[in-house]
Amino acid sequence: MDKLIITGGVSLDGEIRISGAKNAALPILMGALLSDSAVRVGNVPHLHDITTTLELLGRMGVTITVDERSGVVIDPSTLTDTEAAYDLVKTMRASILVLGPLLAKFGTADVSLPGGCAIGSRPVDLHLRGLEQMGAKIKVENGYIRATSGNGLKGAHLMMDQVTVTGTENLMMAATLAKGRTIIENAAREPEVVDLANYLNSMGAEITGMGTSKIIINGVESLGGTQYDILPDRIETGTYLVAAAMTRGKVKLKDTDANQLESVLLKLKEAGADIAVGNDWITLDMHGKRPKAVNIRTAPYPAFPTDMQAQFTALNSVAEGSATIAETVFENRFMHVQEMQRMGADLQIQGNTVLSNGEGRLTAAPVMATDLRASASLVLAALVADGATVVERIYHIDRGYECIEEKLQQLGAKIRRVPSSA
Ligand code: UD1
Repeated sequence: MDKLIITGGVSLDGEIRISGAKNAALPILMGALLSDSAVRVGNVPHLHDITTTLELLGRMGVTITVDERSGVVIDPSTLTDTEAAYDLVKTMRASILVLGPLLAKFGTADVSLPGGCAIGSRPVDLHLRGLEQMGAKIKVENGYIRATSGNGLKGAHLMMDQVTVTGTENLMMAATLAKGRTIIENAAREPEVVDLANYLNSMGAEITGMGTSKIIINGVESLGGTQYDILPDRIETGTYLVAAAMTRGKVKLKDTDANQLESVLLKLKEAGADIAVGNDWITLDMHGKRPKAVNIRTAPYPAFPTDMQAQFTALNSVAEGSATIAETVFENRFMHVQEMQRMGADLQIQGNTVLSNGEGRLTAAPVMATDLRASASLVLAALVADGATVVERIYHIDRGYECIEEKLQQLGAKIRRVPSSA
């Protein structure tokens, strides 16, 4: 297992390219199961979660060809098996996204229940309830969700108790091939849901209302091949912007989309960043100043994303002043706080809120992370800490950040990857 060694103290300065969005790529690749013929997906990031997804599809007998320009061709017509096995699902909860497509297209699916997760219990009850309302028969036995759809799924009026991103995606995919109309109320409005809907429409689906809380899907007979490029990763974008703000630096991020990041850019401006945006780029300049602490409350899109909470906790720990960050989407998503405290951060957890008193200084310590965004936040803390920080268990980072050390090096950071035994 690799680790990262980061020597803090460098103000980031330079330009990097933002990769395709992991959280759009996962449902889009799995959504290829709905097609009668091959689809080509472009701007696919090189990430561990993508490899897991391709392995999941490959084991079902789907034919996959990866080309050198971040493109993947998926031909589901060779599928022989409709099972998603525990050994893969346990490493990536988003594997549950094969359930809707398999059921809609092949009438049967056996998907392992995702295991526990470092950021709260994260159940899938809303996915299952929605599919049952569409006529699926679902049993849970031996740790597997065993689902069948008999004569096919039927459109239904679905009222989601809670906003769920992958839940909305699973049900939207299932509904594309159901008989009749499905309405998803209280749907997730995240850009990744919109990207998935646009992709499915390019395959012949009839989806409207994506990006609002009411998505309407008119079921069609079949879906066909398409070529589709994945949207830029807003969380990767936000992470590098926070890195630049914390280090009092100046960066230009290319191939990204500022429109998806309004709530994050607003908080960065409040922290004192000078931000400019263009069609496909964002620049941030701190003019050498220390950031100011910002109050945050996470909530579903378009509010502030939970996937940026850990990074802003790192920012607040070196910023001027006191602030609070409230986490309302996931319970138990403060695992990074204890690690930052070990680096000298003045942070306190009270219920679902973390209070910060900017110390201005962090010191290097060996740290390790328990989830993807927590790992990223420790890398950010290390960038401003005195001394060399060792971040362990970085396989979490490789699940979601393409070439993180190369990109940070390009911005001037002193960071290197070494095998854990070194
Ligand atoms: C997705 C993102 C993840 C992000 C999260 C919230 C992907 C692959 N992952 O995760 O990066 O942090 O959205 O923006 O896109 N819930 C239930 N029952 C369900 C489903 C969800 O109670 O059946 C609850 C969850 O426990 C959580 C909340 O709903 O408290 C939101 O979770 P959800 O939006 O489903 O997260 P994911 O889709 O797993």
